[in-house]
Formats: sequence, structure tokens, C-alpha cells
Amino acid sequence: MANEPLIRPIEAAPDWTVPQDWDAYTPQDHAMWDRLFERQASMLPGRAVSEFTDGLDVLRMTRKGIPDFAELSDRLMKLTGWQVVAVPGLVPDRVFFEHLANRRFVAARFIRSPEQLDYLQEPDVFHDVFGHVPLLAHPVFADYMQAYGEGGLKADGLGAIEYLARLYWYTVEFGLIRQGDALKLYGAGIVSSHGESLFALDDASPNRLGFDLKRVMRTRYRIDDYQQSYFVIDSFDDLLNHTTQMDFTPLYRELESLTDLDVDTVLPEDKVLNRGTQAYVRAKML
Ligand code: PHE
Ligand code: FE
Repeated sequence: MANEPLIRPIEAAPDWTVPQDWDAYTPQDHAMWDRLFERQASMLPGRAVSEFTDGLDVLRMTRKGIPDFAELSDRLMKLTGWQVVAVPGLVPDRVFFEHLANRRFVAARFIRSPEQLDYLQEPDVFHDVFGHVPLLAHPVFADYMQAYGEGGLKADGLGAIEYLARLYWYTVEFGLIRQGDALKLYGAGIVSSHGESLFALDDASPNRLGFDLKRVMRTRYRIDDYQQSYFVIDSFDDLLNHTTQMDFTPLYRELESLTDLDVDTVLPEDKVLNRGTQAYVRAKML
């Protein structure tokens, strides 16, 4: 999601999509994908939720090179009715929501340069496709994403996009899930980042708190570094039930009267799985 106003590039269609132009990728582009892919694929089994690694397999994303969106969409369409479409970069909120509501995931087509291996400002095709697409092969998560798009259009009408964006941030981008006795990764921002895939699960710094919808919507987030708190869902079914079954309108009203919470706040009523030491941020501030 982006801060408007964004200007639609002339080569983009009215819905902001562009051809992926797969043939234009250079061998270096594909090599960069392979390098990122191998680094993550070797560490994620056992760390990421099994639905994520299953998604990589059923979508044949384990093959070399930047995926062709048309081919990926064919497989995805058969499994859950989703498609992947290319956009030039960040798109306006309403455009983003509109695509999700119609089961289209918008993805960047460019790939990061070697200097941006571990950190980049704007999502590239590795983040968007490796990070987000595998779970779209999972029926429950696929439904959650569509409902989120519909919820976004509604939130926009209510002036509540910021609250809804926090839900996206702490689930779709940086969510953790309980699987058996263990915590696993599922957020796209985590699984597409080598450093954060280790940090989010193993480091003593961040808080790991049980997911609570209102609590999450009150919580600010940081876009410049690893998260200081992660929220843990019990299952994808649970996430879907807590969000799609409910009308957020009264919740948005209530949130306006509540204070925002800081990125590292722990409340007495939080279900604390891990109280973070916040040593990582503290070391950075020295
Ligand atoms: N139920 C939400 C609403 O009434 C919509 C929504 C569904 C939002 C799923 C996010 C995820 O606004
Ligand atoms: Fe993302």
C-alpha cells in the first residue's frame, strides 16, 4: 500500500497493470532470483509453515529463474482461482484492494540489484512472488486475501485504511503461526528476508504476542528494520474466522477513541509468548 497521490505511468492500463515482459529479464536477473531463492529455500523448511513450502512445490516455484506470471497464474487459477499480475511499482490503495477483491495479486516485475541483497526500499519481484504467492495456493489463506481486499474498499469509505493496514502488516507481511508446539513463519516480509527469517523466530529481542484483532489494529509498525513485536495466530482458519465473520465498522469507531500503541508495547492483557529483551534495537541506538 502506498501514500497517494501516485501517478499512473503511461504504459500501464487503467487498472495499473503492465505486461510482465518476461523475455526482457537478463541472465543476471534470473541469477539474482536463484541466489535469493536458494538462500531461503535451504533455511525455510521447518521454519516456515508447511503450507508455505507446499505452495512452492505445487506451484512449481522450485524451478530456476524468475517465474513467468502467466504460467504461475495458470496453476494458481486451477488451485484457488487467483492470478498474479504485474504492476510498475506501488499502486494506490484502492487499486490494490480492487485487485485483491478480484483475486488478483499485484506484483512488481523488477528484481533487486546485488547491492540490495538484504535490504530494499520498495518490494521487488522476489518479495512479491516468493514471499506472497505460495500461500495463495492455500484455500483458506486465499479467501482471507480476497476478503481483505473487500475490507479495504470498505475501510477506505470509512477513513479507516490505517487500521486495516496494520492488520495486513502484522499478518500477511510479518505474521507468525503456531503449528503443533512450535512457532512458524508465514508473513511474506519475513520469509523473503534472510535476516528476519532468523530474527523473527530465534532472536530474544522481539516480543511474540498472541494475535488479537483490536490490539493489532492499535499497534504502529516500523518499515525500516526488523519488527519489535510479532503477533502469533493459531491457524489460518482462526484468522479467517476472526476477520471475515465480523463487521469492522463499529471496531473502527471504537479505535478512534483508543490510543495507538508503540511498536514495543506489552499490555497487561497481552498473551505473551515471549517478552522481548529489545536488545537488538537497543544495540542499534548506542
Ligand atoms: N470483515 C471485515 C470488515 O467488515 C473485512 C475484512 C475481512 C478485513 C478479512 C480483513 C480481512 O470490514
Ligand atoms: Fe508484501
